[in-house]
Amino acid sequence: MDLPFDGAISRYYESEAPEAVRKAVAEGGKKDILTEGFPYERWMKSAEYEERMKPLQVELVKFQRWVEATGQRVVVIFEGRDTAGKSGAIKRVSENLNPRGAPVVALPKPTDRERTQWYFQRYIAQMPAAGEIALLDRSWYNRGVVEKVFGFCSEAERAHFFGQLPGFEQALVDDGIRLIKLWFNVGQAEQLRRMLEREKHVLKQWKLSSIDVKGLSKWDAYTEAIGETFARSDFPYAPWTVIRGDDKYRARLAAVQRVLRDFDYDRKDPEAISAPDPKIIGGVDLWPG
Ligand code: ADP
Ligand code: AMP
Ligand code: MLT
Repeated sequence: MDLPFDGAISRYYESEAPEAVRKAVAEGGKKDILTEGFPYERWMKSAEYEERMKPLQVELVKFQRWVEATGQRVVVIFEGRDTAGKSGAIKRVSENLNPRGAPVVALPKPTDRERTQWYFQRYIAQMPAAGEIALLDRSWYNRGVVEKVFGFCSEAERAHFFGQLPGFEQALVDDGIRLIKLWFNVGQAEQLRRMLEREKHVLKQWKLSSIDVKGLSKWDAYTEAIGETFARSDFPYAPWTVIRGDDKYRARLAAVQRVLRDFDYDRKDPEAISAPDPKIIGGVDLWPG
């Protein structure tokens, strides 16, 4: 069997990575947290994570029942740097929900036909009907970030996108859609460590794409594109939530809490949700960090 990207990440690590990043990964060894300035030194233990996640899962089930009963329409956008933990968070939000009412939407790159349509068009087709929670694994924010970094759109197309974005999201919100925008961040050394890990493990290799591999050497371009995107899309009616993803357990707990926080569903148990950890989750002021 051909292994995808055989060695490309190791080669990047050995010969291309910035010295500080290479050193952090090499010396990190079994250290939990590689990212300097991260507010914790150790990962949350899995026993504590399980204990905290269990009541949140019960709340999610109540939440979905309420969404169905009252005909809410909910969209949660999961965005973030490669390996930051988007798909892990989506998995934990969706695992105990009825999938019929909580579709995960992960659109592939646009087809030739879609390329000729209005940029937002294919996303509109994925917006929820009454009683549905759409979980978007990436979103129209591709145009702000990955398409900019890889040159998949022109500068004019991107400017046009940012021009239309406030009105587009305002229209969704005005129509009654509840829009939550989550941004997962991860440190540069931790990102590399996670990709090396994926390269090593047959069961994780499907998560690696050539975009991820090439993206490793575009860290700074990502940083710039993300900063611009936040500056242009943190609307009062659709603000960003930033989650520090270096500790996957704390990040997943924060993401679930964030989704539940906004809604007044039946039999909501505020104690089960508990207060969000301000060191892990916040607004755009938490980025980069
Ligand atoms: P993921 O990390 O979501 O598994 P990839 O790393 O392969 O997926 O790609 C990142 C994002 O970039 C995806 O949303 C993908 O659709 C998008 N993308 C990849 N190639 C292109 C392209 N040629 N034009 C526009 N978008 C693209
Ligand atoms: P555990 O779930 O504690 O058995 O850990 C399984 C693997 O997940 C470990 O080997 C670590 O690489 C990783 N891991 C454990 N806890 C965390 C955490 N809080 N954040 C990120 N990775 C973790
Ligand atoms: C993840 O960890 O799920 C990522 O955010 C997806 C990716 O690797 O691009």
